[in-house]
Amino acid sequence: MTPETDMATVFRTQNEHGSRYTVQADPLRKAADDTSESPVAALRAEGAGVSYRTRRGQTEALCEVNLQVGDGEFVAVLGPSGCGKSTLLKLAAGLVAPSQGRVLLDGHPIKAPGRDTGVAFQKPNLLPWKTVLGNVLLPARTLKLPMAEACQRAARLLDLVGLSAFARHYPNELSGGMQQRVGIARMLLGDPRLLLMDEPFAALDALTREALTFELQRIWLSQSKSVLFITHSIPEAVFLADRVIVMSARPGRVIEDFHVMLPRPRLPETMSSVQFVGACTHLRSYLQ
Ligand SMILES: Nc1ncnc2c1ncn2[C@@H]1O[C@H](COP(=O)(O)OP(=O)(O)OP(=O)(O)O)[C@@H](O)[C@H]1O
Ligand SMILES: [Mg+2]
Repeated sequence: MTPETDMATVFRTQNEHGSRYTVQADPLRKAADDTSESPVAALRAEGAGVSYRTRRGQTEALCEVNLQVGDGEFVAVLGPSGCGKSTLLKLAAGLVAPSQGRVLLDGHPIKAPGRDTGVAFQKPNLLPWKTVLGNVLLPARTLKLPMAEACQRAARLLDLVGLSAFARHYPNELSGGMQQRVGIARMLLGDPRLLLMDEPFAALDALTREALTFELQRIWLSQSKSVLFITHSIPEAVFLADRVIVMSARPGRVIEDFHVMLPRPRLPETMSSVQFVGACTHLRSYLQ
């Protein structure tokens, strides 16, 4: 079976009923029978703790965090401000080392940022003097991707995020939502297995944020990546995730690990379903 025939992508088409999702081949997605990949867990934290040392003393950000993100699983993290969500993401990215316990990617301790991981933050931090295509291509050199292959992939990713027509535009010519989509394309350039997203839509207006939430589901369904997604929005977490982790106030610990049983693809009308509202109410009870 070739990657092209084995792979499926879900894309959105408009009709008189609004958005609909259908399935077609996606050359960007990895082959499911690629034996170089572990079939199980992507990310695992075992008793992980982080204490920051500053001149004013020590801040315990995370304590005894146990969680895992399965292969191809979408896990959202909710928790009060300052509870250590970004710290958790930095642990998974290899940007912070655990003070206690360990954090593993495919069974190996994460020691430094690696090419298996893609990261997106609240601001996409695009270089203003580079075009959209140039920004998507930024990681190519660090990842040692052959430039011809990287250009082809960048063009396909811009298509995936709906920005093909803007490849030669500059960031200041784009809306905030479009800039964030450039950031998502850039994150996907090296075909990382694990996506780490820290409130990627927090700086956007409510309508753009909702539109990008649908976009992210579409992209994730086509890419089969493991995702750790930090958000302050309960509905966003429930809409996107297979599981929602809730953390306590600092030092952050996992106080709930909730399986979202809603079928996929989730549609705008999903948000008014009894199950969706029930899941939001359940999660909100941990955050009051
Ligand atoms: N580099 C650092 N040095 C010292 N303390 C830090 C550092 N980074 C974070 N902290 C502290 O660790 C705690 C957790 O911070 P973190 O940014 O992980 O929280 P958060 O849950 O992401 O918050 P928010 O929801 O507001 O983004 C906070 O008390 C913060 O002050
Ligand atoms: Mg944060």
